[in-house]
Amino acid sequence: MKTSTQSIILVLVLLAFVSCQHQKQVKTSPSLKNTFINDFLIGTALSANQIEEKDSVADALIREQFNVLTAENIMKSMFLQPAWGKFDFTLADKLVEYSKKNNMAVVGHTLIWHSQLPRYVYRITDKDSLKDFFTNHITTVASRYDGKILGWDVVNEALNEDGTMRGSIFYKLLGEDYVTEAFRLAQQAAPNTELYYNDYNIEQPKKRAGAISLIKKIQEAGVRIDGVGIQGHWHARRIPLQEIEESIVEYASLGLKVMITELDVELLPRNFTGADISERMKMKDDLTLNPYVSGLPDSVQQQLANDYEALFKLFLKHKDNITRITFWGVNDGQSWLNGWPAPGRTNYPLLFDREFKPKPAFYKVIGAKETLN
Ligand code: XIL
Repeated sequence: MKTSTQSIILVLVLLAFVSCQHQKQVKTSPSLKNTFINDFLIGTALSANQIEEKDSVADALIREQFNVLTAENIMKSMFLQPAWGKFDFTLADKLVEYSKKNNMAVVGHTLIWHSQLPRYVYRITDKDSLKDFFTNHITTVASRYDGKILGWDVVNEALNEDGTMRGSIFYKLLGEDYVTEAFRLAQQAAPNTELYYNDYNIEQPKKRAGAISLIKKIQEAGVRIDGVGIQGHWHARRIPLQEIEESIVEYASLGLKVMITELDVELLPRNFTGADISERMKMKDDLTLNPYVSGLPDSVQQQLANDYEALFKLFLKHKDNITRITFWGVNDGQSWLNGWPAPGRTNYPLLFDREFKPKPAFYKVIGAKETLN
């Protein structure tokens, strides 16, 4: 009698142990893309090395976690058309092949942007030459990938913080209708590709109003625009949740898909917000601008996790209007925020650490979904 009770207890203990191990396993490797499969696509931005599959650890994580990819740089015009009329599609084609092989979607970033233009464009001073570049670039690139990629950021960052048009080379030489014209050309060249307007801080009321009037102009011209990308370069402890929520609702009411396209949460000090890549801060010697070189204190790690959790709870609340959340990079070591707006900093803005391990923020993001189930 005694021995059979003992064996039953032993079996029960063993079963509990096995199930605990199993749960542990499931818990340590959930995937973002599967967790949010019924909610929105989960994306990341890939560097040239990652597109070439040079880093096997990154590669495994990318395949495990994400189902949509953006090129962090190589689909910008300076890379696609380095010399006038001479296109180089090598890496962009690789990205498309990579996504196909792995059953992922691709978002093209970006057709028209005032930054990272080829050098010769900055030297253009007349309207006709710029119009030639503009038309040829959009048509050639958008038609090449039509039917192969999900969407294009047709125009990136056309607005100032107060909602007026940014005085870019396109605005100055082509006039304010250039945005509508870019969408018109993209629509002709890529009838099977979604077309988006993408910008940072367009959750902020003034800039949002500017974006809404830009979008309405495109729509009133009878030109197709399918979605709007809020870049989402935000700051820990200062995530503008209310403005983000209002924006999702307002953009969706224009009939648009809403996307968060370049998500990261900055932990280091900054004296401005936004993501204008031409703005720079000078590094001070005393490391006040680079406080976490040897690691992140627990309290800051927790803050980051809580901020991400709040964001994902909000995204889930509006999942019917949000189609995609893309992180701007795979892990902390790769993030552009280590080099911008001040060089040589150690930043921690993503869900995976420098060893590609999930951070507490990752589990909070997964948990945001689990608590809803
Ligand atoms: C950044 C890249 O991450 C950097 O590698 C590059 O040096 C500069 O551009 N908004 C955008 C992105 O739309 O294209 C920018 O990407 C970040 C801000």
